[in-house]
Amino acid sequence: MTTTDHAARAAARRSAKPGRKVLIRVKRCEGPGKPSRFETFAVTIERGANIISCLQQIAANPVTVEGTRTTPVVWDSGCLEEVCGACTMVINGKARQSCSCLIDEYAPAEGDVITLEPMSKFPVVRDLWVDRSRMFHNLKRLRAWVPIDGTYSLGAGPRESSDAQESRYKLSTCMTCGCCLEACPQFLLAETPASWDTSFVGAQAIGQALLFNSHPTGAQLKNERLEVLMGPGGVSDCGNAQNCVKVCPKEIPLTEAIAAIGRAATIRGFTRFFTS
Ligand code: SF4
Ligand code: SF4
Ligand code: FES
Repeated sequence: MTTTDHAARAAARRSAKPGRKVLIRVKRCEGPGKPSRFETFAVTIERGANIISCLQQIAANPVTVEGTRTTPVVWDSGCLEEVCGACTMVINGKARQSCSCLIDEYAPAEGDVITLEPMSKFPVVRDLWVDRSRMFHNLKRLRAWVPIDGTYSLGAGPRESSDAQESRYKLSTCMTCGCCLEACPQFLLAETPASWDTSFVGAQAIGQALLFNSHPTGAQLKNERLEVLMGPGGVSDCGNAQNCVKVCPKEIPLTEAIAAIGRAATIRGFTRFFTS
């Protein structure tokens, strides 16, 4: 977020009056393959209200502004503190976490409207809840873990510089939220798992491949990860539009990660050519 965005949001927070009514316009869908429609609800805003608290208010009394009783809106959430990524949805056209989205910043005046939609790159389960399984599948595809069995003590790990720890720490803050994939023109919706192993893995998985390739023990699987990333749906599918890095709520340097993995894949390609 830019300094201008921060300033605009702080100004909106200062001007917002508790007790005002705002309109929450929600894209509803009863299940996979079902048609969607919009419903609008009026909610009363108290200081500190966020999207989740508005959805809870709607769930307690699911009546639209037209006075029609409907079903409670369905959404996903877990930590409620921007750590698990589960509550990610498209808010006024941009994917972000609904638990940290303050109404005072988005709808500071009486009658303001906020539009909520599910992310478009993942299959809708119902309403605002999407199935993000493909992201976890991609982590498995890339063996994004440290290969130890954990059944006995291996003693102290290798020593590392604080710079190396710091750069890995940033990558480790990924919460698998999907914002980078929602913004990526190369990452497309796949309704079924049939194409998951050949379609673009996306910036999130590439960032995690770099995280584990940079880990002294995780690097044992470095070549296996690079082989997958050199194949169909790998790093060469990135079109370098750089949308991902602009929207990541954890400010993970995704384009740097993509470039680093691209270089490693090139070296791996040469090594393989000269040693095979
Ligand atoms: S840089 Fe690559 S991964 Fe990021 S948004 Fe663009 S195409 Fe997608
Ligand atoms: S890289 Fe950033 S935007 Fe992408 S899933 Fe991780 S936290 Fe979300
Ligand atoms: S509920 Fe976990 S990030 Fe919002």
